[in-house]
Amino acid sequence: MNVSRNFLLLGSAFLIVGIVMGMYMGGSGDHSLALSHAHINLLGFVLSAVFALTYKAYPAMAATRLARVHFGLHLVGAVMVNLLVFLLLAQIITEAAMVPIAPISELLVLIGVLAFGWNVLQNAN
Ligand code: HEM
Ligand code: HEM
Repeated sequence: MNVSRNFLLLGSAFLIVGIVMGMYMGGSGDHSLALSHAHINLLGFVLSAVFALTYKAYPAMAATRLARVHFGLHLVGAVMVNLLVFLLLAQIITEAAMVPIAPISELLVLIGVLAFGWNVLQNAN
């Protein structure tokens, strides 16, 4: 698995969705999805891009199983968090309906970031 490329692809997909949502908000004047838009672009695109470039800059990090686990966790976690925030702000689900899947998804993102941090400590030389 090419972790760097996978993060770039994931980030690009988020960015396309985030920009379309931003254009919709700008065009409609309805900014109620702003927080969803922000996290699609930041948690989805910016973080994925930073991870991709880091793994490219440090091939020793990218070669580890930890990197592949990180990608899987970010893929599932960030997609789920963003989907749930969107559904909440679009008033399709209630805040109560987000439990326990939202905290679990957030935890997946966090565990992925811990794996990334550990990998930095071990292999970013
Ligand atoms: C063509 C692309 C984009 C358009 C048309 C767009 C449009 C918007 C609009 C209409 C808002 C709501 C402003 C408000 O209610 O105060 C907004 C907020 C925001 N956007 Fe974008 N945006 C774009 C790209 C991006 C990108 C690439 C990022 C980050 C990498 C980003 C990050 C944010 C953030 C952090 C907010 C604030 C959210 C909040 O107030 O809760 N946007 N954007
Ligand atoms: C799982 C990860 C994350 C969770 C659960 C989370 C959750 C939240 C929550 C609950 C808020 C406050 C919403 C409100 O004011 O009603 C917030 C705001 C914000 N978050 Fe996150 N966040 C996450 C990741 C990130 C990341 C990675 C970034 C940036 C790279 C980010 C950037 C922001 C910004 C800029 C705001 C303020 C938006 C605004 O009020 O205009 N978040 N986030």
